[in-house]
Amino acid sequence: MLEDKVIVIVGATGGIGATLTRQLASTGARLVLAARNAEKLAALATELPIDVLISATDITQPQQVDTLIARTISRFGQIDVLVNAAGAGILKAYNTIEPSDLDKMLDLNLKGCFYTTQAAAKEMQKRKSGHICNVVGILGKHSMPMAAAYSASKFGVVGFSKSIAEELKRFGVKITLFYFGGIDSPFWDQVNLKVDRHKMLSCETAANAIFYALSAEPQAIPMEINIQPESHLFF
Ligand SMILES: NC(=O)c1ccc[n+]([C@@H]2O[C@H](COP(=O)([O-])OP(=O)(O)OC[C@H]3O[C@@H](n4cnc5c(N)ncnc54)[C@H](OP(=O)(O)O)[C@@H]3O)[C@@H](O)[C@H]2O)c1
Repeated sequence: MLEDKVIVIVGATGGIGATLTRQLASTGARLVLAARNAEKLAALATELPIDVLISATDITQPQQVDTLIARTISRFGQIDVLVNAAGAGILKAYNTIEPSDLDKMLDLNLKGCFYTTQAAAKEMQKRKSGHICNVVGILGKHSMPMAAAYSASKFGVVGFSKSIAEELKRFGVKITLFYFGGIDSPFWDQVNLKVDRHKMLSCETAANAIFYALSAEPQAIPMEINIQPESHLFF
């Protein structure tokens, strides 16, 4: 199903991205790995059983996103799949959020995801085929204290993704949104909040969900996938 597909994974060195990358490396897909840190990308590439294209990219910089897409097209001629698994979290009380915190959340989680989605979608629209997976998180759908800036960015991702999905559906390009609850990944190393990582979902659970969406029969469109840890179950 994924054989020969060209799959761009943004945030490929992260907990979710690296786990998915390792799963995809044995499918016959051709992989493009993107994140900022070139050394981490190279280290991940060396442990894979296939040759991959690595492209150090800061997605807050639209020119760098264009370069990522151009390099992908130049090497492989097409993009079949974009997985947006880059992001970070600033979780703190609303009255302590600095303008720079809000800027970081919006620049990375919202605008960065917009730039990659837009750039990949243009290529997919030309070929009338493609699949974009945006890893949103449950805080793009439900509210939680301490998440005002993060949620603003993630609700924004849902908004633009649904709008673009409407524009793309007549071109055979689909968008899947993933609403995961807490995933035990390096994401939480930077978060200054007391959380119980043992109760979180594993990166494998998140990667498996994305893998499922990518492997579904062509006429199936997994629109949204929600997975919560048992400790935070709500409907
Ligand atoms: N962990 C959770 O509980 C959870 C739950 C739901 C949703 N999510 C979402 O899932 C996504 C991935 O999370 P994760 O848990 O895998 O986080 P992670 O382990 O911290 O990985 C983050 C990835 O994003 C990359 N990145 C950060 N800033 C970037 C930038 N400016 N340009 C390009 N790449 C950048 C990082 O690499 P570099 O630092 O080298 O750039 C890394 O590869 C995020 O959008 C997050 O909001 C996470």
